[in-house]
Amino acid sequence: MSERIPAAAASSEPSTILVLHGPNLNLLGTREPGVYGSVTLPDINAHLRQRADQASALVELVIHQSNHEGVLVDLIQEHGPRSVAIVINPGALTHYSIALRDALAAVARPVIEVHLSNVHAREEFRHHSVVAPIAVGQIAGFGKDGYAMALDYAIRQYVVSEEDNQ
Ligand code: DQA
Repeated sequence: MSERIPAAAASSEPSTILVLHGPNLNLLGTREPGVYGSVTLPDINAHLRQRADQASALVELVIHQSNHEGVLVDLIQEHGPRSVAIVINPGALTHYSIALRDALAAVARPVIEVHLSNVHAREEFRHHSVVAPIAVGQIAGFGKDGYAMALDYAIRQYVVSEEDNQ
């Protein structure tokens, strides 16, 4: 069971949700469209921002993409501690990056792992995630909708709504 973690004592302060995209996700739209669809990363991010704006709570999204493991580790260290949750598609790093997993574990925030494709129906090396054991859960195979599902869950579980605060 995931615990509901209040974002802040008074929710006049926005709650930050960190959204990270790993290697090669900047190429969405042209990268293997048969696997990842035609949606671009700016489309996904705009959709997430729209959803966050429509939430019944003040939510600030900090969104980054990097092709570099160390940059992602730095971003987790920088933004993780003040975030109520982390939504991450680690791309190929999912399958082998202990450094990324350790960075996520170190900041001790709820992690929601997202994959556009159904990694379990693809090559065997994609079936294993080193991030999944420290994540609240994994969403895979729903394309861009998976990000929206992850964000909605994070807002519902980890952000105090304005109604709750009255
Ligand atoms: C991915 C799946 C990974 O196996 C792959 O390396 C990616 C994208 C996905 O979103 O389906 O880069 O994370």
